[in-house]
Amino acid sequence: MDYLLLKQVHMASAAISFSLFLLRGLWMLRNSPRLRALWVRILPHLNDTLLLASAIAMVVISRQYPIEQHWLTAKLVALMLYIVLGMVALKRGRTRTVRTLAWLAALGVFVYIVAVAVSRNPLPGIG
Ligand code: HEM
Repeated sequence: MDYLLLKQVHMASAAISFSLFLLRGLWMLRNSPRLRALWVRILPHLNDTLLLASAIAMVVISRQYPIEQHWLTAKLVALMLYIVLGMVALKRGRTRTVRTLAWLAALGVFVYIVAVAVSRNPLPGIG
C-alpha cells in the first residue's frame, strides 16, 4: 500500500479513536447504558487495530524504528499509557473520581501523542 495512503488511514483512525474515546468517557460520566452496546464494545478495538497496523506498516516501510528514533519511542510508550489509562477510565476504575481522572489523563496523553507525531520531537514545544 502507498505510504501516503497509509498515513491518511493512520491519521483518520487516530481521529476516530479520539472521538470514540471522548464519547465513551462522556457516557461513562453519565452512567449511560450506551456504553454497553455491542458496536461500542467492538468498533473502538477494530479502529485501534487499524491505527496500530498502519503505524507498524509505516515504521517498516520508512525504516524509522522506535528506540532509534526517540519520537517513535515516545509515541509507543505514550500509546501504552493511553491504553492502560483508558482501561482504568472505562472499565477498571473503582470510583467515579478515579475513572474521571484516568479519562482526563488519557485525553492529555492522546494530545501529547499527536504533538509528538506532528513535531517529531519527544518533548514537543520544549526540546
Ligand atoms: C494514539 C496513537 C497515535 C496517534 C494519535 C498518532 C497520530 C499520528 C499523526 C497525527 C501523524 C501525522 C503526523 C504528521 O505528519 O503531521 C502520525 C504519523 C506517524 N505515526 Fe502515529 N500516532 C499514534 C501511534 C503511533 C505509533 C504507536 C507509532 C509507531 C511506533 C506511530 C508511527 C507513526 C509514523 C511512522 C508516522 C509517519 C511519519 C511520517 O512519515 O510523516 N504512530 N501519527
